[in-house]
Amino acid sequence: MDPGSPEGRCRLMRWLCTANRGFANYALEELRRLFDVKAVKQIAAGEIFTIETDLEREAMLEAIQAKEPIFLRHIQPVDRTVTIEGNADDLNHLSELVRNAKPVFSGKRTAVHIRRSASSPYHYTASDTKGVLDAVLDELDSEPVMQNPDIILSIYAAGEELLAGWGTPGELLSDWPGGAVRFQREEEQISRAKFKLLEAERAFGLHLEDYKEALDIGAAPGGWTSLLLERGCAVTAVDPADLHPSLMDHPRLAYFKKNAGEVKFRPDTFDLLVCDMSWSPMLMVKLVLDLQASLERGGTAIITIKLMHRKPLQTIRDVIRKLEESSFKLLKAKQLFHNRDEITLYLNKI
Ligand SMILES: C[S@@+](CC[C@H](N)C(=O)[O-])C[C@H]1O[C@@H](n2cnc3c(N)ncnc32)[C@H](O)[C@@H]1O
Repeated sequence: MDPGSPEGRCRLMRWLCTANRGFANYALEELRRLFDVKAVKQIAAGEIFTIETDLEREAMLEAIQAKEPIFLRHIQPVDRTVTIEGNADDLNHLSELVRNAKPVFSGKRTAVHIRRSASSPYHYTASDTKGVLDAVLDELDSEPVMQNPDIILSIYAAGEELLAGWGTPGELLSDWPGGAVRFQREEEQISRAKFKLLEAERAFGLHLEDYKEALDIGAAPGGWTSLLLERGCAVTAVDPADLHPSLMDHPRLAYFKKNAGEVKFRPDTFDLLVCDMSWSPMLMVKLVLDLQASLERGGTAIITIKLMHRKPLQTIRDVIRKLEESSFKLLKAKQLFHNRDEITLYLNKI
């Protein structure tokens, strides 16, 4: 449905939006490009805000799905609000809210996600609240689950009110509370950067185990390389810095201790190219394009773009344009939870 058409309009509806800290303004700018945002309220500085639109729920969700904003990590309709009393009435009101929405949850696997602002007078922990609401869901013939839910009941305890809403993981853009994807740190983990590729694997629906030959540019200390090796790929790692010693004897690893500008590979050597160089975006693009012939047609590229400048949306547009003018097609651009001052691109070589 065209978000500009009168069809799909309704009274103002509120949505709770979450971005990585410091990037809320960019998420808002992207949302404003999609539809008319009537009102904005900051909930947590630089990170969480509500917007009001006159789009029907379905039209709004369609608009978001059609052009998912890069910086919007999570979105939740505010279907109901509860004024926080700071006592047990809050739990009673939430229970009542869930009972009154029985048709939404009945017969479904339901996950309850609870988040809060630091200053909220809401008294109960997430697990206390979840315990109470899981019991109510049980009464409604809904199965409370932690993973693979059909529907998520998402509750945010703000300053004065509980903002509650529901949707599928696809509609909320994540199956994690607020889109904050948490991975267990492994004892032998080489770098936190590994989480970025793990998250990209989930967010983009990648099957890394299906790739045979991967090129990792800017590989050190080796978090991404280690994940690719774990998934069964042969990996060619390029970095002037040292790889972690635990990787060095791996039989499926070739390591070039060099700048990416100094290496060359035969055409069509790789079916996967990953690049996490933390480098000036345009220089990174140049290095990737210089190596693109080594990636076969139909191959995949996962690239992080460091947002070094004050105009990230412009930088992103410029990088994508350069890559698409060459032989890449963008499949998705997203600021993942584990991206700091960067975003991740998922591309196909055409
Ligand atoms: C953020 S770290 C990569 C972390 C890695 N993905 C991991 O999982 O451990 C960035 C790396 O890019 C490398 N780098 C920067 N410029 C480079 C270049 N021109 N060629 C190759 N590597 C480069 C740096 O030496 C650094 O090791």
